[in-house]
Amino acid sequence: MTSDKARVDLRGAPQTMLATLYAKALDADLPAPILGDVYAKEVVGRIDYDWAKTTITAARSPSVTTRTAHFDEWARQFLAAHPSAVVLHLGCGLDARFFRLEPGPGVDWYDIDYPEVAALRRQLLPERDRNHVVAGSVTDPAWFAEIPSDRPTLMIGEGLTMYLTERDGVGLLRRVVDHCPSGELQFDAFSSLGIRTQWSNSVVRRSGAKLHWGINRPDDILTAVPGTRLLQWVRWFESDTYGKLPRAYRMLGKVMALVPATANMSQYHRYAF
Ligand SMILES: C[S@@+](CC[C@H](N)C(=O)[O-])C[C@H]1O[C@@H](n2cnc3c(N)ncnc32)[C@H](O)[C@@H]1O
Repeated sequence: MTSDKARVDLRGAPQTMLATLYAKALDADLPAPILGDVYAKEVVGRIDYDWAKTTITAARSPSVTTRTAHFDEWARQFLAAHPSAVVLHLGCGLDARFFRLEPGPGVDWYDIDYPEVAALRRQLLPERDRNHVVAGSVTDPAWFAEIPSDRPTLMIGEGLTMYLTERDGVGLLRRVVDHCPSGELQFDAFSSLGIRTQWSNSVVRRSGAKLHWGINRPDDILTAVPGTRLLQWVRWFESDTYGKLPRAYRMLGKVMALVPATANMSQYHRYAF
């Protein structure tokens, strides 16, 4: 019997988005979901995959969904102030942020990821007029040619920067700042310690992906990307969404906060330009 579900055979960084997608799907079935993303649940149901391989469980899902909820909130704030914004959702995977946020009709939203991921997006998520899917590496300057350069622009990179080399990552941020007249850069980052201990991350290890870029503090960005101004820098245990984590995670956060070396392991960055 053949299944009409999509087959996926992803390696490296593209594979890791299956784990974040599955976390969101599991969350949707929790009695008190953090994200309540029905799209994730539907998309997971349409992919033929042994989801246990992602190593994500319902108990582990809040480590993903609280981060996603955090970036949803920052994006909402930007869109509320800029109804005709351009959004660059980089390394989007199969995340349904466009559908969760339902941006107004003045917003052009670009979901950008490697070709194999973009193809799945086109196949599995609904089409919308102003939701553009771009297939390519975020580090390739070529796709910028199709991005409007005269409107406030929000760049979101959730679960992305660590997969880039520092040179490529800085190049990307500078290109956004140079190409767009004004806007915000919102992304999460691992510290150098987070990069060095990547072996402990089962999702990354399984995928065969390599993490490269450690960002330790906002100064790393402010110095490397002229024209940026810090708006917020939040360690994961300082996020408004931290309180939604189960007790075990909150205990871990308390311990990590006390040790300077581990306090900055996972951070959320927000800059204006
Ligand atoms: C951990 S997943 C996060 C996916 C999504 N942002 C989320 O939170 O569910 C990392 C994503 O970044 C994408 N990615 C990593 N490096 C990339 C690059 N150079 N160009 C395009 N996409 C990239 C991967 O393909 C993958 O979809």
